[in-house]
Amino acid sequence: MTTSPTHLPLAESERAVELAAYDRDSDVIAGVEQLRFFPLAVCGGRDSRLIAASGRELIDFSASWTASGTGHAHPDVVAAVSDAIADQAGASVLSSATSASTQLAEQLLDLVPTRGDDRRAYLGLAGTDANDVAVRAMRHATGRHRILSFTGSYHGGLGLSQQVSGIGIEPGTDAPEATLLPYPTTETKLTDVLTRVAVELARGDVAGILVEAVQCDGGVLVPPNGFISGLREACDEHGALLVLDEVKAGLGRTGVRFAYEQDNVLPDVVTLGKALGGGLPVSAVVADVSLLGEPVASALLTAAGNPVSCAAASAAIQVLTNETTLANVAARGAEFRELVAGYRASDRIGASHLAQCRGRGLLHGLELVDRDGNPDDTLAAMAIYRAWELGCVLYVVRGNVLECTPPLTISAADLHLGTERILQAIDDAVAGLVPPEALEAFSGW
Ligand SMILES: Cc1ncc(COP(=O)(O)O)c(C=O)c1O
Repeated sequence: MTTSPTHLPLAESERAVELAAYDRDSDVIAGVEQLRFFPLAVCGGRDSRLIAASGRELIDFSASWTASGTGHAHPDVVAAVSDAIADQAGASVLSSATSASTQLAEQLLDLVPTRGDDRRAYLGLAGTDANDVAVRAMRHATGRHRILSFTGSYHGGLGLSQQVSGIGIEPGTDAPEATLLPYPTTETKLTDVLTRVAVELARGDVAGILVEAVQCDGGVLVPPNGFISGLREACDEHGALLVLDEVKAGLGRTGVRFAYEQDNVLPDVVTLGKALGGGLPVSAVVADVSLLGEPVASALLTAAGNPVSCAAASAAIQVLTNETTLANVAARGAEFRELVAGYRASDRIGASHLAQCRGRGLLHGLELVDRDGNPDDTLAAMAIYRAWELGCVLYVVRGNVLECTPPLTISAADLHLGTERILQAIDDAVAGLVPPEALEAFSGW
């Protein structure tokens, strides 16, 4: 692919083509599945670049909310999918073994550290069904109903997984199926939260805790060391289960295979998704057979364990967790932090609006604030809109946090180019280059 100039202005002819493609989508795609921030219309992609309908190359700092962790069209995934679809062993694991689903489950059991002497892998389609299965497993195994989860958590977009998430769809409807606790970001808050956890668990009705080791959609929050191990101890004391949602932060994203490894604990259950499929819809739950064995035939999705998707996932796992990729995540992540730190220390117009850069590996959040230091959701919306115009794709979490999650395989050149475009976009948004009416059609979260 060609390297574009750093700040590629969006030509009016390109804008017209992209808007036309976007408008076709608006006429036919259901609003219930739209989470839109700017008129992105894509027709292809390779590595860490998306090709817009006009032919423009956009550096992808979202990786489709991390689902393209391998980068787009990774050659190993393409080869695995091509082979599997050319000799397709059906489309489901429900009523037959397939070599691809068996192999993927074996790989997952080797890779994912959890408790259990005799473990199994559930294979699914999305993080949402993986977390649904995990919540039901917690309840079934313990005979208890209550689930503890955290404010700002996101575990899925439908059903039970949505109902145990701290991010509600409508205000006041947060987590009807869970008790929410604050997610700790300082040592003091950690002590308070662990005290609260102990109080809740002592009531004896809690099946388990569902938690992210780095909270992603809640604003990319990194908890102090000792959080996950504190939850582990509390669960053990009260016979509750610990489920780690690694759908977004897992599989190399934070620079280690699993984000919870930072605390050196073994969860009872781990859920995976997004990057697992190498761009295809695949999810998984790993746990002991006592949690995933029963009730038999109680979590059925026809295309689960699809051999083509499983082949993609087997290839993706190799890409995401090999030493070269993990080293790339560490190196590119350090470069990203350095570029952002340089910007914050500069006298550029947006520098004082970038209040914080948090995260690990290639999972970072840039917190934008107004002149008085208050969260500035409008500035964040304008900044990502402008980034799209300049040739970089990224989205917002928790209103004012730009989530930066490029593919784990991103090159140094694209990491630099994409970061520069984002920082320029913040400058341009502060300078008033994005007219407020440009945002009117986009409701975001
Ligand atoms: C931590 C976490 N868990 C679960 C999910 C749900 O995954 P999916 O959208 O693939 O169903 C998400 C999606 O953003 C997530 O970030």
